[in-house]
Amino acid sequence: MSTTADISMSQTESTNGIEVRRMDFSFDQVDTMDWYRGNPILTAFIAVLSGTFPPGEQMFIESVRNYKDRVTDPQLLENVKDFTRQEAHHTNQHKLANEKLESLGWKAQKIEKRVEKAIALLNAKRSKRERLAATVCLEHITAIVAEYVLTHPKQLEGMHPSIKYMMIWHAIEEIEHKSVAFDVYMATGGQRKTLLRIMRAIAVLFPTLTIGRTIYLLWAARRMPSWVQIKEAWGMLFGEDGMFTCIKAPFKDFYREDFHPDDHDNRALVEKWKAEIEAYRAG
Ligand SMILES: [Fe+2]
Ligand SMILES: [Fe+2]
Repeated sequence: MSTTADISMSQTESTNGIEVRRMDFSFDQVDTMDWYRGNPILTAFIAVLSGTFPPGEQMFIESVRNYKDRVTDPQLLENVKDFTRQEAHHTNQHKLANEKLESLGWKAQKIEKRVEKAIALLNAKRSKRERLAATVCLEHITAIVAEYVLTHPKQLEGMHPSIKYMMIWHAIEEIEHKSVAFDVYMATGGQRKTLLRIMRAIAVLFPTLTIGRTIYLLWAARRMPSWVQIKEAWGMLFGEDGMFTCIKAPFKDFYREDFHPDDHDNRALVEKWKAEIEAYRAG
């Protein structure tokens, strides 16, 4: 497993805390199928997330863009522009990662196609307002997962560095732009009760689909994990320090009457990890 710096980066100056970094990760050195702790469940779980991001982020960009013309605040318009650019870069990098995953035997591109179809169905059945509300909800989930990843660096141990640093970069930027969809939703007359109704559905659908797709990926790759690997994955997802356990409290904050994504102040955390990723990049 390589530990050399295999990313290049260019960056535009930011005045709003949303820095647009053009990253170029190389996944050439990812040469083992189970590149996350040698555990196929954990590897498949991250592969599912990577497969979900490109169509998901496309939906986020479009649903925010649908309301751009109704935004009058120039600062928020600037934030929308940077949010769009960050999400577009995430999509590009995850598409490259998914190509690599597919070549290793993980059907990440098939996940992309499935999510694309599900979103097309959603677009046909739901209003623009509901799609923006769904984006706000999913951006909240993305931000609290990002916060979890950056506050539990032990979880990243044993992940191939190219993928690990892609996840860190993505987590940093999800935190930087976490309030943009919410602010657009509120500034254009969105109702909190719609947000809460949609979040209740997403709270069931998101974990169910993600876990279901992880099982599908294991089945499609004909991988049967050992009991030790099942126990390890269970602990990392549902144990005392596991992801699903730790995001419960920040998740519930979303249901507060006066909730705003910036209530979770992660600026110090972002600064710490920006330095870390820069050190890795510099080799
Ligand atoms: Fe993203
Ligand atoms: Fe995002």
